[in-house]
Amino acid sequence: MDRVDLVGDFGPENEEFLSDVCAALKESPRRLPSQYLYDERGSELFDEICELDEYYLTRAELEILRRAGEEICATLGPACALIEFGSGSSLKTRVLLDRLHDAVAYVPVDISRDHLQTTARSLVERYPDLEILPVCADYTRAFDLPDWAISPRRCVTYFSGSTIGNMNLKDSIDMLRQLGQVSGDEGGILVGVDLHKDSETLVAAYDDRRGVTAAFELNLLERMNRELGADFDMRAWSYEAEYDTERQRIEMYVRSAVNQCVEIGSKQFCFEAGERILTEVSQKFTLASFSALSEAAGLQVSKVWTDTADQFSLHYLEPA
Ligand code: AVJ
Repeated sequence: MDRVDLVGDFGPENEEFLSDVCAALKESPRRLPSQYLYDERGSELFDEICELDEYYLTRAELEILRRAGEEICATLGPACALIEFGSGSSLKTRVLLDRLHDAVAYVPVDISRDHLQTTARSLVERYPDLEILPVCADYTRAFDLPDWAISPRRCVTYFSGSTIGNMNLKDSIDMLRQLGQVSGDEGGILVGVDLHKDSETLVAAYDDRRGVTAAFELNLLERMNRELGADFDMRAWSYEAEYDTERQRIEMYVRSAVNQCVEIGSKQFCFEAGERILTEVSQKFTLASFSALSEAAGLQVSKVWTDTADQFSLHYLEPA
């Protein structure tokens, strides 16, 4: 067996995928919902992004987890349950779980169903004493958490990789509130937050030389072709990233090379030559701007760790 059964499955079905993409494409400016980047292929490509020279985020977060691991584990405390939103391959979490000897459960929550099940299998092998409770869900919507075999002393939600930056500011406040509710009054939130820096470094991280990020973003159009029977002509689309210094966020777009119409389900969308679709944003923060965001969500920053180059940060939040 190479998979572990899910303890909860709230993952999106095709109709939801179709209605979500159609609604976002009708907005102006046109957009696509970034959670759908993560099908099996997208999850693989994202793992490749994490290893790129230009993509410093994963390495920086790993460095923090390795260097401050002991202090982070002491902050989480004994008999905690770790609930990770957007767990992917749980790469960073392994560094944490290796050091967190007395945790009672790990709940990886991810939208990418097959990828989650494969990851859960390798976690069960690596951590035989830990209860692994995988839940497939689009965590931007409500879903139920599993029951515990052993009740944890504290629930800590982990939102790694700066995924919090994938949302607009209002949605990210709502997301922090939701994480706070899941963790409860005695719980905490461990959140990875990428820091504002020079545009060259940022744009390179989101538009790498090997074109892995381009393939990752363009895979969303190919996924619509595969799963929704859409007819995007992949020769007529390209990828670009830019940093909006004012809003301090990376914006990722796919651009139409020609005037064209595309069928998605029973709908038709027409694009002009040069027209762009926003596929993802990645908000960058300063320690102060993230602290203000947490306060807006009724939380306070109890601890902050950064990597030696001050590129990335890990924040531990508790109810204010
Ligand atoms: C998974 C949301 C943290 O914004 O850095 C990386 C996604 N997209 N390269 C990020 C992403 C293109 C990533 N997060």
